[in-house]
Amino acid sequence: MNRRTWILTAAVLIPVVAAGCASMRRMKPEEAIAARQKLMKAQGEAWKNIQDKTKAGDVAGVVPEAQKLVDTSDRIPALFPEGSVGPPKTAAKPEIWQKWPDFEAAARNLKIQSEKLRDTAKTGDATATQAVVQTFGRQACGTCHTPFRVPPPPQPQR
Ligand code: HEC
Repeated sequence: MNRRTWILTAAVLIPVVAAGCASMRRMKPEEAIAARQKLMKAQGEAWKNIQDKTKAGDVAGVVPEAQKLVDTSDRIPALFPEGSVGPPKTAAKPEIWQKWPDFEAAARNLKIQSEKLRDTAKTGDATATQAVVQTFGRQACGTCHTPFRVPPPPQPQR
């Protein structure tokens, strides 16, 4: 290729490669902890909305909330770089890094379960959606929280 083409190609490729490296850069522990706690809060909110909408019979309203869980599930593993054990305070258990493949599998499981919930809600079948929602907390969130998260203090009864 001639000199001009080469320079143009380089001008296009160098920023792409640089951006790729920056996004693969390991997050600092405190950044990762803040980012994953924020992500989990968003998941908690989506899950609460799913339960409220199911109760209200708003099956169509469940679809975008389930989609949020599908989208966030992919981002979980990257927010747990090795050694991000705090400070600041984190409920992540050391087992995450001792059993990394299981942790990744738990994130993939969340994705599969959320897709199932989304697709069931899409059919508009309230009974089928209710059935998925009934076991979702335990199967999609609990399979990761039980082995990998320090349990939060008991919530006051409301
Ligand atoms: C692959 C593992 C995994 C899955 C799946 C998962 N979580 Fe979590 N979650 C964690 C870990 C680990 C923490 C503790 C994070 C920390 O403190 O650094 C956490 C923390 C939380 C928190 C507390 C956030 C805070 O600090 O205020 C909420 C709320 C939460 N998760 C909700 C959910 C919900 C709802 C689901 C299912 C829809 C879910 N999580 C699925 C691993 C997971």
